[in-house]
Amino acid sequence: MTVHPTDPALPLSYPFDPGPLGTAPPVLEWARKHAPVCPVQLPSGAQVWMVTRKKYIAQVLTDTRFSRDLLDPGAPRFVGEDFTSMAGGIFNLDPPDHTRVRHVIARFYNPAGVERYRPLVEQHARLLLDEMSDGLNPTDLIPAYTAPLPLRVSSDILQVPAELREANHSHFATQTSLQATPEDVAAATAVIRNFTAEVIDSKRRHGGDDGPIGALIEAQKDGVISEDELQGTTAYLFVTGSEPLVSPLGTGVITMLVHQRQLSQVLATPQLWPKAVEEILRYHHNGVLGLPRVATEDVTLHGVTIRKGEGVCTPMLGATMDPAHYPNPSAFNIMRRTDATATFGAGPHFCLGASLTRMFLQTAYQALFTRFPTLFLAISPHEIPWAVDPHFTKPAALPVAW
Ligand code: HEM
Repeated sequence: MTVHPTDPALPLSYPFDPGPLGTAPPVLEWARKHAPVCPVQLPSGAQVWMVTRKKYIAQVLTDTRFSRDLLDPGAPRFVGEDFTSMAGGIFNLDPPDHTRVRHVIARFYNPAGVERYRPLVEQHARLLLDEMSDGLNPTDLIPAYTAPLPLRVSSDILQVPAELREANHSHFATQTSLQATPEDVAAATAVIRNFTAEVIDSKRRHGGDDGPIGALIEAQKDGVISEDELQGTTAYLFVTGSEPLVSPLGTGVITMLVHQRQLSQVLATPQLWPKAVEEILRYHHNGVLGLPRVATEDVTLHGVTIRKGEGVCTPMLGATMDPAHYPNPSAFNIMRRTDATATFGAGPHFCLGASLTRMFLQTAYQALFTRFPTLFLAISPHEIPWAVDPHFTKPAALPVAW
């Protein structure tokens, strides 16, 4: 690789600054062009390789020489012992254990399974929008809509007992905060573990859960999965259930509002919402660097040898912004022929929540813009503050008016 004076210093330092209006960090484009297998230093001090071309990302995600098992205390962590250190969590398992555990809950999250939850999203959206319409104008859309809607829907899907609902939410945010110390992160992991055990315990005592957690409890009772797999996978359903939806819900609203012509098109033809959602998900994937994998033997990729035991990250924005697959990738265009599939990964760990995310966002945007067709940003889009977070690119405040 030839070094130019304007090249960033290596290893790159994570987190990366987002582009304008929460778009892909510009350093990803640099890396894809000049260092497609690039060293990156995490806030914990751990160093990982970052892969940014779609074809290499697909290779890493499907190559069995890269393991998802991050239980080893030496495995790369972003800040400290976060949820990736929990035993038995579905995404910390490799096949065949992974296949066995995923099979227990897959039916709740396939396209037919998530249709059952659509009325739930519509109902919670309606209630929140009623409150918003009765409240202040302008208002901050985050506390009014983009944060509570995913949490309420997720709590219903996972059938969280009423008395435990709001209790531990801040600990999920600590898990993904870069401002947190390793001690804070480890403490939040312990709280999530206890919260999970409490929910499972309550469900075991009272029964009657016909959702994903009920299915995991049943599978443990029948000897299909272990107690660790039950606890770890349930914890991961809490971690993933709502936070990953908050960020595309907010960034998507901003993106639609700054692309007024495309918004008008969708408002005139609501059947276009699924296409708009695909493009929002392609354009704004929120997992920025993605979770690491560890090489189980030396692997050479693009001439770089990734040694056994080293971590590799695959930012999905590397894939969805790759001009070899998406012409003019930085243009937001809901009429693209491509879709958002690559944003959800590939291989055995392909996002369990992909269909849920699509259904949720289609329903949530449509409800918002149908109710407030004149919605507009109450500040200049360039004044929107952005949250710095290892996993999610999201606005820290989103003042809107109508
Ligand atoms: C925009 C929203 C979302 C995006 C972009 C996203 C993206 C991803 C990606 C890229 C992976 C693969 C990770 C890897 O292989 O390293 C993944 C895994 C996963 N996602 Fe999502 N996700 C989203 C929302 C959700 C939601 C709402 C759920 C709720 C169920 C969810 C549940 C999961 C689970 C359980 C896994 C692990 C699957 C496995 O290990 O088999 N995701 N997600």
